[in-house]
Amino acid sequence: MPRQTFANINLAAVLHNYHQAQQAAPHSKTMAVIKADAYGHGMLPVAQYLQDVADGFAVAFIDEAIALREHGITQPILVLEGAHQPVDFSLAQEHDLWMVIHQPEQVSWLLDADEPIPTLWFKVDTGLHRLGLTVAQLEHALASLPESAIENTVLMGHFACADDPSNEFNALQMERLNHIASTYQLPISMANSPAIAADPASHGAWNRLGIALYGSEPMNKSSEDTSKLSLRPAMQLSAGIIGLRTIKQGEGVGYGQTWHASRDSVIATLAIGYGDGYPRHAPTGTPAWLHGQKIPLVGRVSMDMITFDVTDVIEQVNIADNVELWGQHLSVTEVAEHVSTINYELLTRISSRVSKRYHYD
Ligand SMILES: Cc1ncc(COP(=O)(O)O)c(C=O)c1O
Repeated sequence: MPRQTFANINLAAVLHNYHQAQQAAPHSKTMAVIKADAYGHGMLPVAQYLQDVADGFAVAFIDEAIALREHGITQPILVLEGAHQPVDFSLAQEHDLWMVIHQPEQVSWLLDADEPIPTLWFKVDTGLHRLGLTVAQLEHALASLPESAIENTVLMGHFACADDPSNEFNALQMERLNHIASTYQLPISMANSPAIAADPASHGAWNRLGIALYGSEPMNKSSEDTSKLSLRPAMQLSAGIIGLRTIKQGEGVGYGQTWHASRDSVIATLAIGYGDGYPRHAPTGTPAWLHGQKIPLVGRVSMDMITFDVTDVIEQVNIADNVELWGQHLSVTEVAEHVSTINYELLTRISSRVSKRYHYD
């Protein structure tokens, strides 16, 4: 019997969330962002399931895009980081990929190449200062490329603070992109999940849907009620109980004995640990879900196991019971808050050691 530790992925929920984003932005096309193995949900199964529905897919770098093509995905695929080196433009041509241009060197590589020019999106640095051309660099790029290269082009930007709709920087970034787009009469793409959910003014010709596709909350806590999306979590992370013991008040649990029982306690040991991507720095008190209740993690996370205090649910607890680490009953966002990180990180860090089981309900 294989280890009962699973990422249960509900593809019907992914589809539902995609439709929610489409409904929130009916005049935009929606690109499903499936980089980083579809935020831990499995890039190929997600792409295959959305193949006839999604307007396009976005990935971070060219290897991810080629893997999609090699598995028969025929939708438009946008490579968000564009070419890392000149040869990437030949690969883009060969595999019919859309490339982001965010750095002047990429324009030179393109002009030096003999290849026909693939579909280009120009990324403008509207203030995030991570990737993107300045307005002057954009003007230069548009002037140096043949007109045919600019036919299907889109101007894109990326928000720094979209999860906080009250942040004035969002409007400033939007204004900068809109201003350039009107100068060149080009369509735009700015909105990511939080902007799709709460900022209709940011919706462009294309929106880019990442975290909300997977049913996880895109807004920060104080802005959750501004979201127009009704999402369904697509991943449930679960692990079986492989050990149960009663310890006396005052005894410690786990490496370093960082937690001591304040009463006689029942400790359940689960078959999942930091070797599976569950965060090692998850503190005592991080919740999981068992038999309709939250249970607190106690002691340190080890490589293959974690320990929970199940004293308050012991009547119902048995070896081999399944515990939800996050999923339908306990959101990954809530777990992430305990762990001082974000839902994106927890989802993408689940390791290949955890088997994925797909279902469709
Ligand atoms: C350029 C770009 N666009 C869109 C997205 C999707 O963002 P989200 O997951 O917040 O929807 C990302 C994600 O990191 C990104 O880097």
